[in-house]
Amino acid sequence: MPRLTVEGYGTFDVPAGKRLVLAIEQDAQVDILHACGGNARCTTCRVEFIEGEPRRQTVAERDKLAAKGLTGVRLACQIYCDHDMTIRAISRLEGSGRPDPGGTPEAEITPPPEWIE
Ligand code: FES
Repeated sequence: MPRLTVEGYGTFDVPAGKRLVLAIEQDAQVDILHACGGNARCTTCRVEFIEGEPRRQTVAERDKLAAKGLTGVRLACQIYCDHDMTIRAISRLEGSGRPDPGGTPEAEITPPPEWIE
């Protein structure tokens, strides 16, 4: 079972293969944003990796980060928890001025992932 550490919140066992955005919200109980519902459209689910950043990336994540000029962050909705990870939750509901975090992402990565290794 992979271990997810969220800086300032603790370390949590996460079912292998769970979407990172869901693990942060449901297992670590952190109020991460996911305004587009986990579809690589909004970038509000962005996190900083401290350890265990996955090498592979979806085409949708790469293209969205490039379009927004974002570096040093990853989209939690485009990552599966398949190994131990330590992240910083930098985009949270608290302080965002938003009424809610966004629609709950589906269990599998959407859109259907095309992987860049
Ligand atoms: S990009 Fe919108 S939730 Fe991940």
